[in-house]
Amino acid sequence: MRVIISKNYEEMSKKAAEIVAERLRKKPDLVLGLATGSTPVGMYKELIRMHKEGNLDFSKVKTFNLDEYCGLSPDHPQSYHYFMWENLFNHININPANVYIPSGDIENVEAFCKWYEEKIKEAGGIDLQVLGIGRDGHIGFNEPGSSLTSRTRIKTLTEETVEDNARFFEKKEDVPRYAVSMGLGTIMEAKECLLLANGANKAEAIQKAIEGPVSASITASLLQFHPRAIFILDEEASKNLKRREYYRYVERMAQKLKER
Ligand code: PGA
Repeated sequence: MRVIISKNYEEMSKKAAEIVAERLRKKPDLVLGLATGSTPVGMYKELIRMHKEGNLDFSKVKTFNLDEYCGLSPDHPQSYHYFMWENLFNHININPANVYIPSGDIENVEAFCKWYEEKIKEAGGIDLQVLGIGRDGHIGFNEPGSSLTSRTRIKTLTEETVEDNARFFEKKEDVPRYAVSMGLGTIMEAKECLLLANGANKAEAIQKAIEGPVSASITASLLQFHPRAIFILDEEASKNLKRREYYRYVERMAQKLKER
């Protein structure tokens, strides 16, 4: 695991975008796993900027989003479909046919989830999965108690998640209680994972995810088993880490190696 600690949200976003851009330049038909929420917005802005400056081509990229609320149509302003087009896709040269986001408003959810998993396989698997983290330690909507080998399916949101996401809705009662989410097994098959976290309210979940025992109670902790997981944090989100200085030292040493 690589733990990169940045000064603030802006630096975290820039570093994350640089990693995505670097992978994309190496592999123009990159298969990107994407996340919603407030955390990756800065990274998306940075990717849009790079694209507009002519430095980043998304024409061959395929994307798979982690999750979507149940019961919201794609044009609902709080749906993750809407979010992704607003915050990224409308501003880059992605082929709409290459965009995959779970559907939250279909009849046969089970068949849909199977189809979604098939599509990821057909694309050759996800090269780089971008992740956020919930205060309850979730990645995607894999709430505490999720099977560590789960696949895309319906999840019931915890009260904590509903409360956290209520800020995007008029009132708490409007927050959907269910979501379709990639499973932990799905996420773990990505070739590389990039988890972003900022703010003091994520510090506890981050400490448990990186330094605590691997447990279904903090599903992000499963990334300890991932061969290529990168955490990019701001100062605040990193403040509870017991080996914080060591992670900084490792990054400095890695930089020295590169410069040799
Ligand atoms: P946030 O959500 O980026 O809005 O904090 C993260 C998450 O719940 O996974």
